Amino acid sequence: MTGVLDGRVAIVTGAARGVGRGIAVALAREGARVAVADVLSADDVLADVEAAGGEACAAICDIRDSAQVDAFVAAVVERWGTVDVLVNNAIATAIGPLHELSDDDLLLGFATGPLASAYFMRACFPHLRDGGRVVNLRSGTEQNGLPGYTAYVAAKAAVGGLTRAAAREWGRHGINVNAVVPFAVSEGTLSALDDDQVAGVLRQLSIRRPGDPETDIGRAVVYLVGPDSSYVTGTTLMLDGGGAFFS
Ligand SMILES: NC(=O)c1ccc[n+]([C@@H]2O[C@H](COP(=O)([O-])OP(=O)(O)OC[C@H]3O[C@@H](n4cnc5c(N)ncnc54)[C@H](O)[C@@H]3O)[C@@H](O)[C@H]2O)c1
Repeated sequence: MTGVLDGRVAIVTGAARGVGRGIAVALAREGARVAVADVLSADDVLADVEAAGGEACAAICDIRDSAQVDAFVAAVVERWGTVDVLVNNAIATAIGPLHELSDDDLLLGFATGPLASAYFMRACFPHLRDGGRVVNLRSGTEQNGLPGYTAYVAAKAAVGGLTRAAAREWGRHGINVNAVVPFAVSEGTLSALDDDQVAGVLRQLSIRRPGDPETDIGRAVVYLVGPDSSYVTGTTLMLDGGGAFFS
C-alpha cells in the first residue's frame, strides 16, 4: 500500500466505534500503522483496516488512568518503534442538568477529555518531536453551550485550551497541534440525541446530512497529520457541515 502516511505510526483513542473508527480507517488507508486505545473491543475496526489492506493493533486501555496510558504508548513504541501521530478522540460524559450531576458525573468528561488527552500528549512527546502531529477532538457546543450538556461542554472547552497552549509550546519542538469539530451520527450521538434532536441539528446544517466518520472526518484528519499541513498549527477545522451548533 502506498499513501501519504506511509511509514507513520498513529495512535487513535476511542476508535472502537464512531468518529474514531472512521479516523483510524482513513489513516490506515493512507499507509499509517494505527494503534487503537479503547475500553471496548476494537475487533470491528481491526477488520475494517485489514479489509482496506492496512495495519492496526488494539489494546484495552482506560485512558482515565495515566499508568495505562503510559503502558499503551510504551507498547506501541516497543512494537513499531515510535509514535508520529496522536489523535485524542475518545470521550465519555454524563448528560443532565448541572445541578443534578454527581462528583463522578462532573469528573467523567474531564477525565476522558482534556486530562486523558494531556496524558497521551505527555507520554508521546519524546516520540513526536521533530515532525509529530496531534489532533484533538473538540465540539461545536463550546461556542454557545447546550442545556443538559454542561459537563461535556466544559470539558471540550478545556480541550480547546490544551490545543492552543500546546501548539504554542510545541511549535519549537517540531510538533503541530490542531483540533477538529466533527458532526457525524455515531453511537455516541445516537445515545445522547433522539431522532427529533438529530433531525433538528440536521436542519441547522448548511450541508444537510451528517458527516461520514471516515470520508468526511477521517480524510480531514489525514490532511492535518499529513505532508500538506506542515505550516498549520493551533487551529481548529470545522467538519460540521457548516454550523450544526452555531446558529
Ligand atoms: N459525533 C459527533 O457528531 C461529534 C460532535 C462533536 C464532537 N465530537 C467528538 O468526537 C469524538 C468522538 O465522538 P463519537 O460521537 O464517535 O463518540 P462515541 O461515544 O461514539 O465514541 C467514543 C469512544 O470513546 C471510547 N471511550 C470512552 N471512555 C473511554 C475510556 N475511559 N478509555 C478509553 N476509551 C474510552 C468509547 O468506548 C468509544 O469507543 C469525541 O471526542 C466527541 O466529543 C463528536
